[in-house]
Amino acid sequence: MAHRWNNDLTAADVTPYKTFLNRRQIMAGMAGVGLGTIAGPLMAAEEELKPNTWEEITSYNNYYEFGTGKEDPAEYAHKLTIDPWSIKIDGMVDNPGDYSFGDIMAKMTVEERIYRFRCVEAWSMVIPWNGFELADLLELAGVQSGAKYVGFETLVRPSEMHGQKYPVLDWPYVEGLRLDEAMHPLTIMATGIYGKDIPKQNGAPMRLVVPWKYGFKSIKSIVRITLTDKEPPTSWNKANAREYGFYSNVNPTVSHPRWSQASERKIGGGLFAKRVPTLNFNGYEEDVAGLYDGMDLAEFF
Ligand code: MTE
Repeated sequence: MAHRWNNDLTAADVTPYKTFLNRRQIMAGMAGVGLGTIAGPLMAAEEELKPNTWEEITSYNNYYEFGTGKEDPAEYAHKLTIDPWSIKIDGMVDNPGDYSFGDIMAKMTVEERIYRFRCVEAWSMVIPWNGFELADLLELAGVQSGAKYVGFETLVRPSEMHGQKYPVLDWPYVEGLRLDEAMHPLTIMATGIYGKDIPKQNGAPMRLVVPWKYGFKSIKSIVRITLTDKEPPTSWNKANAREYGFYSNVNPTVSHPRWSQASERKIGGGLFAKRVPTLNFNGYEEDVAGLYDGMDLAEFF
């Protein structure tokens, strides 16, 4: 399938740690000649875009089907059977049906996208995902002209997902996007991390990634995609409509009712583990702000 969009940030752009350290020394030297003021922000920006380690990405997760603790998914997700796996695509499509994961993968072009990932709890990571554009899968299903929204559902299998034995959320976990958001080239279905199959705690075999929205929109282990003309229900909005809206665009100016969303802390930041200001649309403003022209984003949060 044709690529509509190329990420201009690739692994090659990420400064290797060693170079980074040398640069720090160079910058420190420059401080003596009066150029030190630029070193701070420059280094902070580089550090912010350095991908998190495999260990960080796979051991600090939110996946309530396996428990509500950050370490629970890494401990329990191995119980999930992901082969065979199929996704039902239904609703307003020309080709409804059950699509096997293998058949989907055979038709898709998988590429790497390094994205910032911002959780509503004000932590963030940078993750080198492998995946394909959701638009390519939707095109395969043939979206009908009346469709306006896309609904997503996670697997329900309490025998393997023990968290589903408790009413922490109303299972299945569900999410939704407006059709234009779903078709946007930044929106991907992720099937890997660092070039390896995506681990079960991160949503194997296939999970959504919408980089300009809070992390909870990025629904894991998807078994159903429904095209509809009505705004689909979303799990966190159903659980607490005052705190979680349908759009959930990363927005430093709209606070969560219980905490500010103006800054974030990158997981594993080490030496630089201070909070940094959160960017509008998580840094993807140029690409996506146009989707919301004329909308009051404080009302549609
Ligand atoms: N998808 C399902 N099915 N269940 C969940 O509990 N948690 C969401 C999202 N997708 C969640 C989910 C939240 S709150 C976040 S922040 C991200 O997954 C975390 O993704 P990660 O663990 O890969 O970093």
